[in-house]
Amino acid sequence: ISPPDKSEFTTMKYQFPENFWWGSASSATQSEGAAFDGGKGDNIWDLWYQEQPNRFFNNVSATKASTFYQNYQTDIALMKEIGHNTFRTSFSWSRLIPTGRGEVNQEAVAFYGKVIDELIANDIEPFICLFHFDMPVAMQELGGWESREVVEAYADFADVCFKLYGDRVKHWFTFNEPIVPVEGGYLYDFHYPNVVDFKRAATVAFNTMLAHAEAVKRYRAQQLDGQIGIILNLTPSYPRSQNTADVKAANIADLLFNRSFLDPSVKGEYPQELIAFLQEHDQMPACQEGDLATIAAGNVDLLGVNYYQPRRIQAKLHTVNTDGPFLPEWFFDYYEMPGRKMNPHRGWEIYEQGVYDILTNLRENYGNIPCYISENGMGVEGEEKFIENGQVKDDYRIDFIKGHLTWLHKAVQEGANCKGYHLWTFIDNWSWANAYKNRYGFYRLDLETQTRTVKRSGEWFAQASKANGFD
Ligand code: BG6
Repeated sequence: ISPPDKSEFTTMKYQFPENFWWGSASSATQSEGAAFDGGKGDNIWDLWYQEQPNRFFNNVSATKASTFYQNYQTDIALMKEIGHNTFRTSFSWSRLIPTGRGEVNQEAVAFYGKVIDELIANDIEPFICLFHFDMPVAMQELGGWESREVVEAYADFADVCFKLYGDRVKHWFTFNEPIVPVEGGYLYDFHYPNVVDFKRAATVAFNTMLAHAEAVKRYRAQQLDGQIGIILNLTPSYPRSQNTADVKAANIADLLFNRSFLDPSVKGEYPQELIAFLQEHDQMPACQEGDLATIAAGNVDLLGVNYYQPRRIQAKLHTVNTDGPFLPEWFFDYYEMPGRKMNPHRGWEIYEQGVYDILTNLRENYGNIPCYISENGMGVEGEEKFIENGQVKDDYRIDFIKGHLTWLHKAVQEGANCKGYHLWTFIDNWSWANAYKNRYGFYRLDLETQTRTVKRSGEWFAQASKANGFD
């Protein structure tokens, strides 16, 4: 690993707090491979691929993930080389408990134990998430998150994980982006089971929150020496103007996509405005006695924030066609802000200040909850065109990281309780229906040979982590 430019690390204009977490994130299904090996049961991604392979970019399934199951030692050594002191991945529920409940797969127990030990031996603190979109098929057959039995089974699975690894893992997360299976699976048809039904989506969201709270309860009951949190993708909703209609539209998007998980997991309660909205439109999920008390006790120790891009919202310009299914978009429109900065290699806006706005909101309105940026990253389609002398010269990714870290630094200077930054992701990984369409890694993965080659951004990150900052 060679430093890109030493002059960037001399005056240290952006110096981060001591023990700042420098690392990256991935997930089990997206990195392990071995989808049908090691005693793993099928999850919904295995099932969906069998049913509709053409829904996956270039027909590539999770079996083609970046072989972490076999090569975790190599990968952890490579993380160390680029300055990781922390790394987040998830445990695959269907690998540990193939049918979702009942017998625990001892091969998986051994595998995850070795991964944790290897990380710790390399001074990389493991951050473990318990659900990253990969519902076991047997649990989906019971109704997935629509089923209370699945909520219970998930809490049991979490309990097993805490008992097995709670002595060594000090940072746990119940869910990654719990709104995404709600949106993808029950509103917009980009995840299995491809339902479009707002009321069912609301039930899935509510039961996921219950499952989260049950897992937190199990964790606290074990009195382990660690922290438990949740990872949320927060998308600041910016209104087009300050006129009442635009502000109201942006507020609805914020309630549905951010505060539906942020408020209960940090404050222990749902926003009254959200409840009123759901009641007004007859979309309330079934809530049983005791549920709200359970959720109230599930407030987190630590919040992971995934941030990629904001939502630009305006009031509806045209009358809604109410013949189709009830959707959030009945209440707002998206708009393209003139002059916005775009990722030219993927149709997403880049708005670095969003990090600052999120962290400041957490500081001012959420008790300055301890948090960290658990995902931020730049997906690039066709990244091979930036290869020079065998290396991806991804200066655009270095700029992207620096831009976001600069705003993170400003928020911390002003008192935000943000403890670290994880890039999505360590190595180009398989990504759900997008497979390898967008490359995000510090390392390039050659899909034919499985060779890993550090990108320029990985070299830059090694220096930034070592210096705990940059100019
Ligand atoms: C995040 C998810 O939302 O976005 C990851 O937590 C995902 O699992 C990442 O891979 C990037 O998404 P995509 O579709 O650009 O690969």
